[in-house]
Amino acid sequence: MDDDRPLFFHVMAYADDADRDVVDMVSGNPDWEPPAALRDGIREFADAPVADYQYPPSEGNAELRAELAERHDVPVERVVVTNGAGEANHLAMACGLEAHAGNEVILTDPVYPYYAGRTELLDAEAVYVPVADDGTLDPADVRAAASDDTALVVACSPNNPTGAVYGEEVKRELTAIAEAHDALFVSDEVYDEFDFSGEFRSALAFDSDNVAVTNSFSKSMGTTGLRVGYAILPEHLVDPARTRHMLTNVAVTAPGQHAALKALRETPDSYYAGTREMLEERISAFCAALDDAGADYIQPRGSFYVLARFDGFPGTLDNTKRLIDEAGVAGMPGEAFGSAREEWMRFALVTPRAAEAADRLAEYF
Ligand SMILES: Cc1ncc(COP(=O)(O)O)c(C=O)c1O
Repeated sequence: MDDDRPLFFHVMAYADDADRDVVDMVSGNPDWEPPAALRDGIREFADAPVADYQYPPSEGNAELRAELAERHDVPVERVVVTNGAGEANHLAMACGLEAHAGNEVILTDPVYPYYAGRTELLDAEAVYVPVADDGTLDPADVRAAASDDTALVVACSPNNPTGAVYGEEVKRELTAIAEAHDALFVSDEVYDEFDFSGEFRSALAFDSDNVAVTNSFSKSMGTTGLRVGYAILPEHLVDPARTRHMLTNVAVTAPGQHAALKALRETPDSYYAGTREMLEERISAFCAALDDAGADYIQPRGSFYVLARFDGFPGTLDNTKRLIDEAGVAGMPGEAFGSAREEWMRFALVTPRAAEAADRLAEYF
């Protein structure tokens, strides 16, 4: 990430300026309704007393932390509320690098670009482990890449950009690898509500001092602008993370935390199930059209991204722009996600026009 503006801003701006109608499938901004309780929480906060508008506790709203601790079955002291999963990942990575021996960060290829950018920002060395054609990660490859120089293993499941779900055994192995090398496994679980495979397990299940779990309400509640997330840290990282968080952010938005807490408590499972069902329909319509277009793609088992490759049309930035201009569909070039899938493009199914976009692609190719 050499540019201070991530590539997706650049592609979105290009799509906005296009001379034609474009279906935007660039970034992971959900287009569906947040839970009703979340909107109620925001409204409720508007009339809160002046005192509620002042600095909330730096480590997070006490009730929100308690609710999260109970849901994840961890001591409340281990929960730090953050400015989205982005900050949670940053705290876990920065503090993990400081506390653990070595300066290498094991990442998958393809990779969520912010892990790669953050590794560079933190002056660490990225070591990439390619995933299989279907997006699965073989822990034996991670084990082979790990050494005493490994400080972090960072992975997200359900995965962005592949849509893979790393099941219980994979996460158990990643935890064991971190333990064997005095490293920290940062398990980003921001897409936990978008598991279509039934195989998602939180890395907290292994009760290890070498695991940090990060998450947020950005995706699960369709609110990337709310900026409320959290890290569940092993004990030795709690104090350094709280200090870093306090000195960077002071605290996280009080109205956002209030609304997230209300939504967490009051949102029925049917809200999440309904979103999953809607996304599964989109994915199946989109993938059927990719079949018609003769494209290769990874069948997503989670999250809401489809990584696809079109014969004779590598997913470069130039071709991404061509697709915007000539087909009216905007995706992300594969090069944004590492080197393994430079020929591919990622499409975020965060638009009710996903099926229409798929038809455009089928017609174009
Ligand atoms: C894997 C992954 N982690 C973290 C984030 C950032 O989440 P948040 O909005 O909670 O900071 C994203 C956003 O796209 C993501 O895809």
